[in-house]
Amino acid sequence: EKETFQFKIVFLGESAVGKSSVVIRFVRNSFSEKIESTIGATYTNTEVSLDDYIAKLQIWDTAGQERYHSLTPMYYRNSVGAFIVYDVTSADSFVRAQDWVHELRSQGAKNAKIMLLGNKIDLQERVVKEEVAMKYAEESNLLYAECSAKSGLGVNAAFLKLAKSIPKE
Ligand code: GTP
Ligand code: MG
Repeated sequence: EKETFQFKIVFLGESAVGKSSVVIRFVRNSFSEKIESTIGATYTNTEVSLDDYIAKLQIWDTAGQERYHSLTPMYYRNSVGAFIVYDVTSADSFVRAQDWVHELRSQGAKNAKIMLLGNKIDLQERVVKEEVAMKYAEESNLLYAECSAKSGLGVNAAFLKLAKSIPKE
């Protein structure tokens, strides 16, 4: 019997970068082009089995639309992990991700582990280079991964990497 630990995780990032799609890919292993934009926030829980313990993730997937911005502190405030998502085909979404990093660092749980996650790597029209994002992540002391919720590539690896980085208790 592995011991279990509960981790509160939040998804942040501009609208339409694919936050909900990444969560659905991880939790249900499915994908839809026709997913609805999130209203407020959506809660999901799931488990990640690590080498010697089970991480129970309580996931808050927030709405990226600006009108919901004022609600986000109640979701990130006592999170121990955060995915800050951008779309690799959108330079604006990468800038917005950096704003989220600043907001979390100044207003959020001080020791939360933050992963910068570039989504939609299945698309050809990439504008945010992997090396640029990786360098920013390194300099800012963030975990970093890229994925595609559509193909599933990199999604599990990103969750495992963040889950493993969170101290138990
Ligand atoms: P908000 O809820 O408004 O904050 O948006 P979101 O970040 O949750 O984005 P959502 O998951 O709703 O996805 C937005 C659109 O991008 C949808 O049409 C998805 O099907 C599409 N999408 C999400 N992930 C990917 C991906 O990896 N590749 C491609 N090609 N499309 C994706
Ligand atoms: Mg959403």
